[in-house]
Amino acid sequence: MRYKINFENKIKELNKEKSKQYYYIDTMGCALNENDSMKYKGIIEEMGYVCTEDIEKANLILFNTCAIRENAEEKLYGRLGQLKNKKIKSKKEGNELYICIVGCMTEQKSVLEKIKTSYPYVDVVLGTKSMQYFAEKVYLAIKENKKTKEEQLNEHEIVEDVPIVYDKGYKASVSIIYGCNNFCSYCIVPYIRGRERSRLPEDILKDIAELAKKGYKEITLLGQNVNSYGNDFKGELSGYSFVDLLKDVDKIEGIEIIKFASPHPKDFTDELIEYISENKKISRQIHLPLQSGSTYILNQMNRKYTKEQYLNLVEKIKEKVKDVSFSTDIIVGFPGESEENFLDTLDVVKKVKFDMIYMFCYSVRKGTRAEKMENQIEESIKVERLERLKALYEKMVDDNNNAKIGKVYKVLIEGKSKNNEDKYSGRTEDNKVVVLDANPEDVGKILNIKIIKNNKWYLTGEKEKI
Ligand code: 5AD
Ligand code: SF4
Repeated sequence: MRYKINFENKIKELNKEKSKQYYYIDTMGCALNENDSMKYKGIIEEMGYVCTEDIEKANLILFNTCAIRENAEEKLYGRLGQLKNKKIKSKKEGNELYICIVGCMTEQKSVLEKIKTSYPYVDVVLGTKSMQYFAEKVYLAIKENKKTKEEQLNEHEIVEDVPIVYDKGYKASVSIIYGCNNFCSYCIVPYIRGRERSRLPEDILKDIAELAKKGYKEITLLGQNVNSYGNDFKGELSGYSFVDLLKDVDKIEGIEIIKFASPHPKDFTDELIEYISENKKISRQIHLPLQSGSTYILNQMNRKYTKEQYLNLVEKIKEKVKDVSFSTDIIVGFPGESEENFLDTLDVVKKVKFDMIYMFCYSVRKGTRAEKMENQIEESIKVERLERLKALYEKMVDDNNNAKIGKVYKVLIEGKSKNNEDKYSGRTEDNKVVVLDANPEDVGKILNIKIIKNNKWYLTGEKEKI
């Protein structure tokens, strides 16, 4: 369905007499949530609100929540508790504050109940399928003081043409597929986000072409499982695959770097590897979620590959794609994970030499298969394993960085360095932050940069002398 701006204008009308209205948005969780937040920003700005980083100044606060791990819930309740007095005060002063909660957490019955009973002053709670109703619900809150705490408003339908506010700069992300069919046994996502639905290529390509026109140079294609893109197409589009989409994105003038996250190792085809090797625009850092290095645990996780299959895939990619590096996601302390199983994870980490690891302690999620598994691991063991993984990772980052010294990388110069006003920064093709001397004219350009120093969490580089 196509999004229609309607209630946004009515809200503008309601706020006409008021002073300038500000919104504050707090995004938890993954890149897909960040992407949804850009759409919420678009919708809210259509209502006439202006973005603020200062929550105190805000007239509308939106929490875009994540349900992947448990600890985020406590964080949300803490923030809601803090807002109670502000809400009461704002009403008295005649410039009322509206509080809205969207995203994955709102799909969990326990969270919904808790909000209803403990935080009745929240104005709008909407699930992940209901973005198109958001403006209407805010309108009802302002006009009629009507609170909305709905669970589900429609099925998982793709909504196109939602106004989007992209981050400033040269990099943008575009969702290509929603939902997930994999049902990894620890993961709540398939229950919350539903089955895989691919956006039509024409809608994706239109968005990317518009971004290119605005000067964006780097695009990240997003989805829970990007390489199953197109599997749900029927009729004319049947057979159109992720590789076909990459080929079409490649044709868009102005896009110079293409990234994607996350692929599933089981769907990483030879055709995809071949195409990456041929297309230098595709980032040389590939995110390949491992989750565990133990074949036994992988089986328990329902990941559908073994330790050996994962390592073979990495080898195959390394053989074909020159200078490739890998990032990954790892969970420690999955139910039944023995010391030996954990050592298998460390073994894979050592063999692949990941450049970046997003590591997590296993967190029980209600309704998943792993929730009911025996041998849940003690928290102290999970933490101890996480620390050991972290120590290995830190040592590896250092070694990986040292190996980069003297090499020349293509670096998109993104702007002034955050930590040093006199310097500029960017990222290598394999996603390492590089700090260097440059000029304002270099910003937004892709330059050849020689790495001269390893500072552990970033590299120092210099423009290659010709
Ligand atoms: N506990 C810990 N980590 C999890 N992830 C997903 N579900 C859980 C869970 N229940 C991690 C996986 C996934 C990443 C986005 O979050 O590593 O790839
Ligand atoms: Fe969750 Fe697995 Fe789907 Fe990723 S692939 S979203 S971990 S079920």
